[in-house]
Amino acid sequence: MLGLQGISAQELEAILEDAARYKRDVIGQSIKKSTLLRGKAFVNLFFEPSTRTRTSFELAGKYLGADVINVQGEVSSIAKGETLYDTARNIEAMGVDLLVVRHGASGVPAELKRYVKIPVVNAGDGAHEHPTQGLLDLMTVWERHKSWKDVHLVIVGDILHSRVARSDLWGFLAMGARVSLVAPPLWMPDWIDEGVTMTSDLLSALKTADVIQVLRIQKERWSMVGMPSPEEYRSRWGLTLASAACLPENAIILHPGPQNRGVEIDSEVVAHAASRILDQVENGVAVRMAVLTRLMEGHYEG
Ligand code: CP
Repeated sequence: MLGLQGISAQELEAILEDAARYKRDVIGQSIKKSTLLRGKAFVNLFFEPSTRTRTSFELAGKYLGADVINVQGEVSSIAKGETLYDTARNIEAMGVDLLVVRHGASGVPAELKRYVKIPVVNAGDGAHEHPTQGLLDLMTVWERHKSWKDVHLVIVGDILHSRVARSDLWGFLAMGARVSLVAPPLWMPDWIDEGVTMTSDLLSALKTADVIQVLRIQKERWSMVGMPSPEEYRSRWGLTLASAACLPENAIILHPGPQNRGVEIDSEVVAHAASRILDQVENGVAVRMAVLTRLMEGHYEG
């Protein structure tokens, strides 16, 4: 699970069906315990801060009976000069069954996979992909629509640097949804597939959106030459109550977190009736249960 680019609709559907069963049969129970991964162990190896991804991988593993170890990159032996590859191979040598990796550089999880035999899950790598975020976004939309053909996903924000945008794009396109990307011209990439709409006009895109995914603006971007100020960004590309009013009646609002309230999204919008932001977080545990069992060969019949 290194990325969603190239994944089939059939594989995505199978993961989402597993996730829905885990949500109902394990997470939805008063005692959230399964023995599917009893005797298995995995390591969360994180080189960047995380609240949602790291915690939900840990919870997913524990709900399934696996042993879960968290390793923070900065306080591992990497700080003493050990290479990332040696770290991964040493973790594997301890009998660990799977490695979950978050890193600030694109391609690190895929590169590490070349050095170890165990499965590697990409928990977000630089500006490349965040596949389990893409899966939880798919699950949140699927719970609402149950059909992909007529779904129009609009993603607004720093498309150029966003791993969430990439994983969402590949996942939703694989399912047959329509995708529009909205960004200031400086943040619009040139690698986009044919058939994907690109625009800087948020209000027009919102008028036909079934789903609006609002991306977090990373603080370091404000220093880019030609960037709008945070105030200008909010007025043109932020989701405020005024811009959210352009959405069709049944549209839903997503944000992968963490949020910069008052910049890309206003507090009133986070709390809006159309907001499914906490559903995304809830579904993150279920999709990670599905990914872990599929990769560690836990067979779940449901
Ligand atoms: N969405 C997401 O990746 O959040 P965290 O950085 O808290 O894991």
